[in-house]
Amino acid sequence: MKFFVPGDAAACAVGADEVAAELARLFGERGIDAPIVRNGSRGMFELEPLLEVDTKEGRVGYARISAADVPAVLDAIVAGSEHPSGVGLVDELPFLKRQTRLTFARCGITDPQSIEEYREHGGLAGLERAIAIGPADTVEEVFASGLRGRGGAGFPAGIKWRTAAAAPAAQKYIVCNADEGDSGTFADRMVMEGDPFMLIEGMAIAGLAVGATSGYVYIRSEYPHAIRAMRRAIETARQHGLLGLSLLGSAFAFDMEVRVGAGAYVCGEETSMLESLEGRRGEVRAKPPLPAHVGLFGMPTIINNVLTLAAVPFILAEGARAYADFGMGRSRGTMPIQIAGNVRNGGLFETAFGITLGELVDEIGGGTLSGRPVRAVQVGGPLGAYFPPSEFHLPFDYETFAAADGLIGHAGIVVFDDTVDMAKMARFAMQFCAAESCGKCTPCRIGSVRGLETIDRIIAGEDVEANRALVEALCETMKFGSLCALGGFTPYPVLSALRHFPEDFAKARDVETVS
Ligand SMILES: Cc1cc2nc3c(=O)[nH]c(=O)nc-3n(C[C@H](O)[C@H](O)[C@H](O)COP(=O)(O)O)c2cc1C
Ligand code: SF4
Repeated sequence: MKFFVPGDAAACAVGADEVAAELARLFGERGIDAPIVRNGSRGMFELEPLLEVDTKEGRVGYARISAADVPAVLDAIVAGSEHPSGVGLVDELPFLKRQTRLTFARCGITDPQSIEEYREHGGLAGLERAIAIGPADTVEEVFASGLRGRGGAGFPAGIKWRTAAAAPAAQKYIVCNADEGDSGTFADRMVMEGDPFMLIEGMAIAGLAVGATSGYVYIRSEYPHAIRAMRRAIETARQHGLLGLSLLGSAFAFDMEVRVGAGAYVCGEETSMLESLEGRRGEVRAKPPLPAHVGLFGMPTIINNVLTLAAVPFILAEGARAYADFGMGRSRGTMPIQIAGNVRNGGLFETAFGITLGELVDEIGGGTLSGRPVRAVQVGGPLGAYFPPSEFHLPFDYETFAAADGLIGHAGIVVFDDTVDMAKMARFAMQFCAAESCGKCTPCRIGSVRGLETIDRIIAGEDVEANRALVEALCETMKFGSLCALGGFTPYPVLSALRHFPEDFAKARDVETVS
């Protein structure tokens, strides 16, 4: 019998370490000889800490248990009786069963630090195939899969890889963006803690494909568990020839290391990240040149999000077609969607593009945790638009969201109930931009501060119509005049709040009329 207690930061935050320690203590006391695997999370956070036990029928779960519950749970497991925390077969839980897990197929299943288990569950097949077909065909395979960047911009990975592959240079780099700064997102962290070899394999394949022998994974400093997990896995990967001078015994070399982020949202912007990696303050670089031509230390560099690189081993192992068969339009494959905020069933839901926003929020998310009606959801992080339930028919797809003046971003969905004040949320967007601006360009540096002041005037009921028009004009300037998407996309939450929830701003006008 094998026991599983997640070592994932979200599970540990609600007591998983204490559960594992108590289980180990009881095993010692009772002379039970059974392994306790610190697996990744299954991504059903409302069930954490979720203890699982291997049985003949499959893995059986015990949800939300504390260290104090462990003796009784263990008694029930040994006696084959029921326990109130039992949730039955974990794979049969609707939240998991409805998913199409390509990237997250192993997360929560295997021991994240066991390279043997990684291989047993399909790992390394992608790198083996990349070695067999060579760099040019590897790039074309990624191109044919239709994989687009999962960090926010949705740029086709294959085009970026082609560009870097074609750039002549003595040294090229792969940089993995694990800054994961968007509100309500945690998929990158789950990959690094729950299946780190997949990311290492994805980076090694990228290196082989474009001729880069060195890589960095830039992890936000707020992720100490992920930093530890990646460092440990990189060391193991080196010992097993997954990294080093000869990848799996081939003529290709690739090695990588972890760099800890500098703690600013803008350091997630790719050129700002390059500055930070080079030891300078995180400030956005003007493009061109593109990083694929002139990137880290002036050399051609691929910068991809964790989820982009993590999708690559599957694409190489199973073929571009197997990945591209999922999805809709130009959004191919699956997306690990992160459901958060005031929601009953928050967590990681990987599914093919095309699922509607309403299905995600109402059916999978189960509505609000407060039990009050959903009023708004913000999709795509702090720079994403707010959508009311009347837009819940929108399918999750890059083009659809762009046409609806929004973005998918890193696929974080934050749910709000009807107590939310959307004028305050619009204010927050400007405040966030003002706080996080790198200061390089005027529309963002000055515009966000003026925007904040103007929204404050609206909220105070001062000359509401004129100030509203001013905010709209300012948003136009920020949208088209900013150097990067921090200033350029801040208008999305502001304008969507104004468009979809005018009554919250009208409240301010009422104040003006009354006064
Ligand atoms: C202000 C700002 C913050 C960003 N933060 C992140 C981040 O945390 N993680 C990420 O992968 N991309 C982030 N991006 C997007 C990156 O600039 C870049 O597009 C991405 O890393 C490229 O990888 P991809 O093509 O795989 O998505 C951010 C962009 C901006 C403008
Ligand atoms: S938009 Fe803001 S964060 Fe981006 S370059 Fe300009 S000042 Fe810096």
